[in-house]
Amino acid sequence: MNILVCGGAGYIGSHMVKMLSEQGHQVTVFDNFSTGNRWAVKWGKLYEGDLLNKRELSDVFERNSFNAVMHFSARSLVGESVENPALYYQNNVIGTLNLLAAMQQAEVKDLIFSSTAATFGHPFTDRIDENHPQQPINPYGWTKLMIEQILQDYASAYGVNSVSLRYFNAAGADPAGEIGEAHDPETHLIPNILKSVSGEKRLKVFGADYPTPDGTCVRDYIHINDLCSAHLLALKYLDSHAGAYGFNLGNGQGFSIMEILQAAIKVVGNKIPYDVEGRRSGDPPTLVADSALARQELGWQPLYITIESIIETAWNWQKKSHTYGRG
Ligand SMILES: NC(=O)c1ccc[n+]([C@@H]2O[C@H](COP(=O)([O-])OP(=O)(O)OC[C@H]3O[C@@H](n4cnc5c(N)ncnc54)[C@H](O)[C@@H]3O)[C@@H](O)[C@H]2O)c1
Repeated sequence: MNILVCGGAGYIGSHMVKMLSEQGHQVTVFDNFSTGNRWAVKWGKLYEGDLLNKRELSDVFERNSFNAVMHFSARSLVGESVENPALYYQNNVIGTLNLLAAMQQAEVKDLIFSSTAATFGHPFTDRIDENHPQQPINPYGWTKLMIEQILQDYASAYGVNSVSLRYFNAAGADPAGEIGEAHDPETHLIPNILKSVSGEKRLKVFGADYPTPDGTCVRDYIHINDLCSAHLLALKYLDSHAGAYGFNLGNGQGFSIMEILQAAIKVVGNKIPYDVEGRRSGDPPTLVADSALARQELGWQPLYITIESIIETAWNWQKKSHTYGRG
C-alpha cells in the first residue's frame, strides 16, 4: 500500500514509518518539524509541510496516489494547551479538517488517527474501556475528542473510514536502536529517568501522596512497536469495516513512578537520582487502559509485556544516540 504518514518525523510516527517500510509498504512523510526530528526520517519520501498550509497539503496529494493516511501530527503538551489553547485548536483541529478536505479531494477514504487517554479526563474506574465517559479536562484532550467527533460525522456524511487509537503512554524505542524518543522539552517519564542516569537532567517526581500503593502516580506504558502494530491491524480492519471506530491501547498493567524507577535501576545497573516535588495539577492518581476491545476486534496482541523489556529498548537507544549522535 501507499501510505501518507502525517507527523512521521515525530516519536511515534517515525517508528510507524520504519515498520511500514519493513513490511513493504510505500511511505511518504508529511511533517513541519515543529516537534519532530530530521534525523528520525530515515525511510520513505519526505515532504516538509504544514497541515495549516492547504497548498502544501494539496501538493502532496496531487503528486502521490495514497491508499490511506496515518495521522500522528499534533501539539501534545497538556500544560502548553492550557496556556495557549488557540495554538492547540488551530494546529490539531483545523489541521485535521484541512487534512480531511485534502483526503476528500483526492478520494482517499481511510484514516488512522492518534487519539489519547486524555479524552477521558478523570477516570471513574480502575481500568478505562471504550464505554468510559469522555470528558477531557484540558484543551489538548478536547482537541482530540473534537476530532473523534468530526470523524464520526465524516463517516456518516462522506464515507470517510477511520480508526481512532487512544494511546495511554507510549514508551520504549526501536529494538534495533535506529530511532527513539527525543522530545524537546521531554515530559515523558522513561526518557527523563534515563536522562537522569546520564546526568543530563535530574528527575522530578511530581507527588508522592496519591492514593496509590506507594503514593506515586500509576500509568499504563505500551511499547512503541506494539502501538505501531495496532495501526497496521487497524488499517486492515477498515478493509471490512466501514465507519468510524475508537479503541483504547495500553498494555492493561499499571506501574507507579517508583516501580518504573526500580525497573530502570535494574536495567541500567545504576542508582538514579531524583527529587520529589509537589503534585502537578490535573494528574489523576491512576490511568490504566482496558484494551480488551482492541484485542478482540483487531486481533491485537502486545509483545512487550514486562516494563523492563520496554525500558531496555529505550536505554539501548539512549546509549547509542549519545555515543554516535542522532544524525
Ligand atoms: N507519546 C505519547 O505517549 C502519546 C500518547 C497519547 C497520544 N499521543 C498522540 O500521538 C501522536 C504522536 O505523538 P508523539 O509523541 O510522536 O509526538 P511528536 O511531537 O513526537 O510528533 C508529532 C509530529 O507531528 C508534527 N506536526 C505537528 N503539527 C504539525 C502540522 N501542523 N503540520 C505538519 N506536521 C506537524 C511534528 O513536527 C512531529 O513530527 C500525537 O498526535 C499525540 O497527541 C501520543
